[in-house]
Amino acid sequence: MARATRSFVCQSCGAVYAKWAGKCEACDGWNCIVEETAGTAAAGAPPGRLGSGKGRRIEFAALSGTSEQPPRLVTSISEFDRVCGSGLVPGSALLIGGDPGIGKSTLLLQVAAALARSGIGCAYISGEEALDQVRLRAKRLGLEQTDVQLAAATSIRDIVATLEARDGPAVAVIDSIQTMWLDTVDSVPGTVTQVRASAQALIELAKRRGVTVLLVGHVTKEGTIAGPRVLEHMVDTVLYFEGERGHQFRILRAVKNRFGPTDEIGVFEMSDRGLTDVANPSALFLAERRGAVSGACVFAGVEGTRPVLVEIQALVAPSSFATPRHAVVGWDSGRLAMVIAVLEARCGVTIGPNDVYLNVAGGLRIAEPAADLAVAAALISSLADTPVPSDMVVFGEIGLGGEVRAVGQREARLKEAAKLGFRTALSPTIIAAAGQPAARPVGGINVDEIGHLSDLVARLRPPGRALGRTPDADERRRPYAPAGRRQGSYD
Ligand code: TYD
Ligand code: MG
Repeated sequence: MARATRSFVCQSCGAVYAKWAGKCEACDGWNCIVEETAGTAAAGAPPGRLGSGKGRRIEFAALSGTSEQPPRLVTSISEFDRVCGSGLVPGSALLIGGDPGIGKSTLLLQVAAALARSGIGCAYISGEEALDQVRLRAKRLGLEQTDVQLAAATSIRDIVATLEARDGPAVAVIDSIQTMWLDTVDSVPGTVTQVRASAQALIELAKRRGVTVLLVGHVTKEGTIAGPRVLEHMVDTVLYFEGERGHQFRILRAVKNRFGPTDEIGVFEMSDRGLTDVANPSALFLAERRGAVSGACVFAGVEGTRPVLVEIQALVAPSSFATPRHAVVGWDSGRLAMVIAVLEARCGVTIGPNDVYLNVAGGLRIAEPAADLAVAAALISSLADTPVPSDMVVFGEIGLGGEVRAVGQREARLKEAAKLGFRTALSPTIIAAAGQPAARPVGGINVDEIGHLSDLVARLRPPGRALGRTPDADERRRPYAPAGRRQGSYD
């Protein structure tokens, strides 16, 4: 006789427990464990055992065989295509995760409309909104005349039967996977078991029929709805749609892609007529910059294959708390603590009794260690109340010894800075080839190479004011010793 197995599943990370608990030991989440009935076990076979039934023998194939690849489905929304790795792969499953209200439905409706315009059969199945609501959005986006097949449905059995039809669409958007349910699973929609089973059925259909499935998944901090993280290993591509709610910029980031690069980002601007591609993100991120202000510094970063210039803002102010506050938006707080510790220990800069606020302007999240030097420059600039020159970009990684380490894609960073009118770059020292000058100008930009963080402090120090001590020779020993380093000050 079939027997239902009961278990307690964490709705944010998918960990399974034998009994209920208030806290998930796997992800440290509170109140996220819910009782679920996880299907049925086959008669006579304990879970995990095969029982008496015989399996079929699998045919092995050689690696050298050729597989015909159908052309990718290009949406002509260039930022979306780039993040997917130059278009969607037919028969693949893609998951777009993001906070509620960030713009996932808007983006996918625009994607569906763009594909339909180029003659690709496209279905948009909404489990969250009524047909009228989706139509209203389409009207607002100016897409009401496109040939997207619209449906409001939540039953996976019905959806699979529809998509399986011979004249079914080539691309199907499922908005969202948390609202879908499979009648063979005895859990409410949105639980880990339902989300997994529904996604499994859709992914299986994608592989079998060559339908491209785009799944929307909400991420919730509370973990009350099954996060898309439990699906990440099942799908081919995982994209995250991020951005600050108050900003109009949205960033589409690939975190897993079986068919393309994973470090690409796509930048969009949300307007009253939907999302538009931002072809030159640097210009947009720097648009609101107000000249030379102390505590602000332009970081020449690289996101995927593209250089992106962004302003880093720091405010170092005397604290009114017993323990000073450190708050970070858009960067790693652990990394900030490291930069502060290196400034204190290796350069003698005292930040300790101050509150430190760090912000990456424009809502971008930076993960590159190359931002260390720009963060340090913004901190010192705020502490000393000396502006970093407004025509200067900064990049470089900082080691625990205070040494400034070389980072990749130097030329691309410098070229982008030159293109946007910057005249100087503060960058790590690179070991110059014999007969070449240590600091080579790239695209008309003057490169000032520094080897130690104390050189940065020296350059930003106001005249006649001590800002930390000068490290001795031992401390200054570093792997990238420049032959003829220029000492100078920007004051
Ligand atoms: P939506 O796509 O519904 O978000 P999600 O599916 O991720 O929950 O979009 C949410 C926000 O976008 C909503 O607050 C309104 C805003 N928006 C615009 O600013 N302009 C537009 O043209 C559209 C369609 C939405
Ligand atoms: Mg939505």
